[in-house]
Amino acid sequence: MHIGIIGTGYVGLVTGACFAEFGLFVTCLDKDEKKIKSLKKGKVPFYEPGLEELVQRNLKEGRLTFTTDVAEAVDSSLAIFIAVGTPPRGDGSADLKYIEDVAKEIAANLNGYKIIVTKSTVPVGTGDRIREIVSRNLKELVHFDIVSNPEFLREGSAIEDFMRPNRVIIGVDPESSSGQQAIAIMKDLYKPLYLIETPFVITNIKTAELIKYASNSFLATKISFINEIANLCEKVGADVHMVAKGMGLDMRIGSKFLHPGPGYGGSCLPKDTKALLKMAEEQNVELSVVDAVVRANEKQKEIMAKKIKDAMGVLKEKTIAILGLSFKPNTDDIRDAPSLYLIRRLLTEKAKIRVYDPVVRSLDLIAKSNELIANDSKLRALSSKLITYCKDPYEAAKGAHALVIMTEWNQFRNLELERLRKLLKEPYFFDFRNIYEPKRLKENGFKYFCVGRQ
Ligand SMILES: NC(=O)c1ccc[n+]([C@@H]2O[C@H](COP(=O)([O-])OP(=O)(O)OC[C@H]3O[C@@H](n4cnc5c(N)ncnc54)[C@H](O)[C@@H]3O)[C@@H](O)[C@H]2O)c1
Repeated sequence: MHIGIIGTGYVGLVTGACFAEFGLFVTCLDKDEKKIKSLKKGKVPFYEPGLEELVQRNLKEGRLTFTTDVAEAVDSSLAIFIAVGTPPRGDGSADLKYIEDVAKEIAANLNGYKIIVTKSTVPVGTGDRIREIVSRNLKELVHFDIVSNPEFLREGSAIEDFMRPNRVIIGVDPESSSGQQAIAIMKDLYKPLYLIETPFVITNIKTAELIKYASNSFLATKISFINEIANLCEKVGADVHMVAKGMGLDMRIGSKFLHPGPGYGGSCLPKDTKALLKMAEEQNVELSVVDAVVRANEKQKEIMAKKIKDAMGVLKEKTIAILGLSFKPNTDDIRDAPSLYLIRRLLTEKAKIRVYDPVVRSLDLIAKSNELIANDSKLRALSSKLITYCKDPYEAAKGAHALVIMTEWNQFRNLELERLRKLLKEPYFFDFRNIYEPKRLKENGFKYFCVGRQ
């Protein structure tokens, strides 16, 4: 079977490469010519462990091709997956302009029965909207089905997540005469997952769309919950790790997503929680839990900045070393990363910043931090002078007054403490991912601060 994937970012490329690995013939399309040029040579333009090998193997074996030509991706495909971005608008709602553009382009090239599958995270009702746009823009009268198939992969372990998902959600229109056919095609595409007994949830499109937002908002809830408990632990002298362990052993709660830190970030949880709130607001439904989760997360980022300020006093002329920029390890994604919030706060205080991240390139950082301080021309001008990008953690620490761990990359877990202590001008150590034992750091002469532990 031949399928097309439109949008070749984190989700689209992983989907395309994994389906090719399942034995399907896949054409991946993106409007970004540079990206496609690089992918045609087997070079993945972002960091995702194992993805480049998968892309290269399937390119070589002829099951994976890349194009910027919509007709090429649509012509011979029975299923066309939409995996373009749905970024947040100023009011928090999901911006559907990329989805709508793609719907028009697909319509203009539809030449026979196909299923149009949404992998992007889209607000409830988008399936109907896509159907409307495609119907209106068809060049010839052909039948098609809309399917919602939200994606749950995690950056950093995306291939494993795609190949061994906890579940596959398939939403189809119950009114469609060919709905059963659409389900059969989807099941066929995912046949290898049947063999490993992956649960399939078959439902209507709106329910499938909402499952994605409800899942991400629930994960965000767990994080904000444990962050607030961590803040209480600090006041009352409890240890949040033991609290999380004690809670997580209860099967009804589960131990995942109960790790305290500087707030959640990334391209999904912040935008999806806000988009869900916006959706509910439009329906006059109050989602007070999700609303509190979003506010707690904003507060958590500020609480981290305040921890530094409270411990060190005036930060002007002080140098802060930041280890880790990506919102979590094993990815180069810095969208909405808590590190960017901290950088902006430190720039506001006129602190100097030395950063190191194993995969995030310096240019991304400068671009993003400029975006974050876009309304402050003075800070924007200062940012290129105040931020230094370093080649390793030790270079970052050299001459700094404090070290801050913002991402729990494995390589930060066993830093040479004595060497760091000597390189730092002052021994402040802010471990916002709780990867070190407080006792050990204090014994090594650091003024150690973490989240929710003494
Ligand atoms: N990144 C994740 O971890 C993740 C996980 C699950 C779901 N999602 C959802 O999947 C969607 C995609 O996310 P992503 O992180 O892969 O985004 P991304 O920004 O990495 O990739 C989107 C791609 O779509 C391309 N594109 C935009 N308009 C196009 C058009 N008209 N034609 C062709 N290509 C076009 C862009 O050039 C870009 O390469 C979003 O809705 C996101 O919420 C993301």
